[in-house]
This record gives sequence, C-alpha cells and structure tokens, in this order.
Amino acid sequence: MKTKILPPTNENIEYAARILKEGGLVAVPTETVYGLAANALDKTAVNNIFKVKKRPADNPLIVHISSINEIPDSINIPEPAQKLMDAFWPGPLSVVLPKPPEIPDIVTAGLDSAAFRVPSNPVALRIIKSAGVPLAAPSANSSGRPSPTSAEHTAQDIGGKIPLIIDGGHCTVGIESTVVRIQNNKVHILRPGMITVQMMEELGIDTAECAGIADITGINNTKENFKNKDPMDPRPRSPGIKHRHYSPNAEVILVKSNKHNKPALEAFIAYVKEHGGDRVFAMVYEGEQNMVENAKAVVFGKRSNPKSLAHSFYSCLREVDNQNGKTLYIRCLDEKEMGSAVYDRITRAANNKTVYI
Ligand code: TXA
Ligand code: MG
Repeated sequence: MKTKILPPTNENIEYAARILKEGGLVAVPTETVYGLAANALDKTAVNNIFKVKKRPADNPLIVHISSINEIPDSINIPEPAQKLMDAFWPGPLSVVLPKPPEIPDIVTAGLDSAAFRVPSNPVALRIIKSAGVPLAAPSANSSGRPSPTSAEHTAQDIGGKIPLIIDGGHCTVGIESTVVRIQNNKVHILRPGMITVQMMEELGIDTAECAGIADITGINNTKENFKNKDPMDPRPRSPGIKHRHYSPNAEVILVKSNKHNKPALEAFIAYVKEHGGDRVFAMVYEGEQNMVENAKAVVFGKRSNPKSLAHSFYSCLREVDNQNGKTLYIRCLDEKEMGSAVYDRITRAANNKTVYI
C-alpha cells in the first residue's frame, strides 16, 4: 500500500475523516506523539491497529475524543477525575474510567475500564470532529520502538501499511500522555507524563502515596515497584508498561555519577572516551556536545529543563538508529532534575542497564 503524507489542509482533514469513517487507519499528529487512529466503535478497524503495530492483544488503547462532553453519559465520573479533566483537558493526560458498553472489548483488551483523552493538538481535534466518532489511537510506532514525534518517524515504522499520515510537524510535548486512574478517590499514576503529580497536587487533587512508576516488567521489582501491583488482581494495572518499550536498535546504557570527588560531566566525558569508538554515541545536554571525545554526541536538550528533554528524546533515539549506532551512553541525572516522565522513558529505553561512575 502506498502511504500518502499530507499537510493538514481542510481538504486533507476531510479525506482523513472519510478513511476513518470507512474503517481505515490514519496516522494523526497529537501534541504528545503521533497516533495510529481508527474508529473506536469499529472492531475490525481497531483489530487492524493491533496488526499494523504488531501490538500484543492484552495492551488496551486510549480513546481520543474532542471534548469532555463526548464521554458517554452512562459513565459515573469520580470527582478527582472530573477535576483533572477540567484542569488539564485538552492536553497530555489520559484518564482511566469505567468502560462504557458502546466501546468494544478489543479497545480495552477485555478490561472493565477505558482510557480517555482530549488532545490539545488542533489538527488532532479537527480530525476527531470531522470523523464524528471517538478514535482509538496508540502511538504510531511499531510495538517496542520509540514513539514517533514526526510524520517522517511514523513513516519509518508503518509506512506502506496505512493509506495516510497527516503531517502536523514535530510534536510539541514529545513523550506520551500521563495515564491515571482513580482508586478510593485518589489519583494513581499509571504512566508518568508532562502532567505531573506536583501539578495535580497544586490543584488540591489527592494523589495516592504509591503514585510513581509502575514497573511490572519483572526486571526491576523493587519494593517501590511492587507497591504498584494490586495483590488482589494479577492483571497489570496498565498493561502497556509490562512490555518492552521505547527502545532503539542501539544498546542504551545509562551512565550515572555517584561520586562527589569529580564533577559528573567530567566523569561522564572520561567514561565515554574510554569506552567509545566506532558507532558509539553519547547523549549530553546543550553546550556539552563539543566536549565528547571518541563518540558521536547527540543533544538531549537543555539541562534541568524536563520539557526540552521530553521534546527531543525520541528523535534522538531515532537519530542514533539512523546512523546505525551500536551503543548509546546517556548522561543520566537525578530523577528530579530530568523530570519523572523523562526519567521513566530513559530507564525503559535502557531496559534498566546502568553503570555507575
Ligand atoms: O500521548 C498518548 O497517550 C499517545 C497519543 C497518540 O495519544 N498514545 C499512546 O498510546 O501513548 P499507547 O497505546 O502507546 O499507550 C497507552 C497506554 C498503555 O500503557 C496502555 O496500557 C494504557 O495506556 N492504557 C490504556 N487503556 C488502559 C486502561 N483501561 N487501564 C489501564 N491502562 C490503560
Ligand atoms: Mg505506545
């Protein structure tokens, strides 16, 4: 199949809506990452999302709507969820609610809950409105690959498998939405994103003590991570996070400093110089790239600026793959400095591989 990549003119938005209404798939820009959209009410269309992405069937999809009013009336919305939606929609937040009967089981992978999100990207909103149906849309990468943040990245993974990609330029946020669910009137973070626990707490919304990164991959089953498992329910809370994620072909290794006798930057540069070589890359912060020796530098973004890091992270990973990188060393800072969402993504990309210097 030839994949067209078209700009978001009115005519092309209408074309995208037509494909979606007829049961086809369209890749759509959102503020977080590109999504692979289908009519959420059409089981066959949703099934094709799983096929194109090679996505495991136990990983549910987020339902994208254009306004809070499109949440079916039959759903009982808990108060904290209502507050979150009022505060952060449209925006990079997905809220898990009880599953309405009109959403087919395939969308929610058989769970009795469904995740909803109103994206803020105007192109995404225009497409949802024109299609006139809710859109199920996972990130538009092949399963396990870094999420695509441009039309070009989307085409790298699923070009030839879908009829249309709408090109909305580079995504402003750059990493996927925060996913939350409500339990006992408290907000639990299932996947950290740019809507943070701090932002919720500033609004007086109660977050659960265990809010944080649920790692159910089994790789890092620390006490903290176990807290995110529900002992009464063997199913993962957010099934997506148990699968290998966000990895480029290159081996990703986090390099952390735990010594105070040498400045962290100097120690990192020395480590890379020693372990570098052909096809080795080093991910550093703006202004540090000229210091890298014996490896190719990729610029993560501005240090101490989680937004800037989120914006470029996935494109950096793809850049390393495009240049046939073998190893990528990431200069890893404190979770606080990098932001919990970015920290989560780099840990997953590295599959927890860390060296301490
Ligand atoms: O920013 C985003 O959220 C992007 C754009 C396209 O909107 N979408 C995205 O979708 O990242 P996806 O499918 O790549 O990730 C959805 C995550 C998965 O970890 C999935 O397990 C979780 O949301 N999820 C979906 N429905 C859920 C549910 N009912 N309960 C718990 N987790 C759910
Ligand atoms: Mg994804």
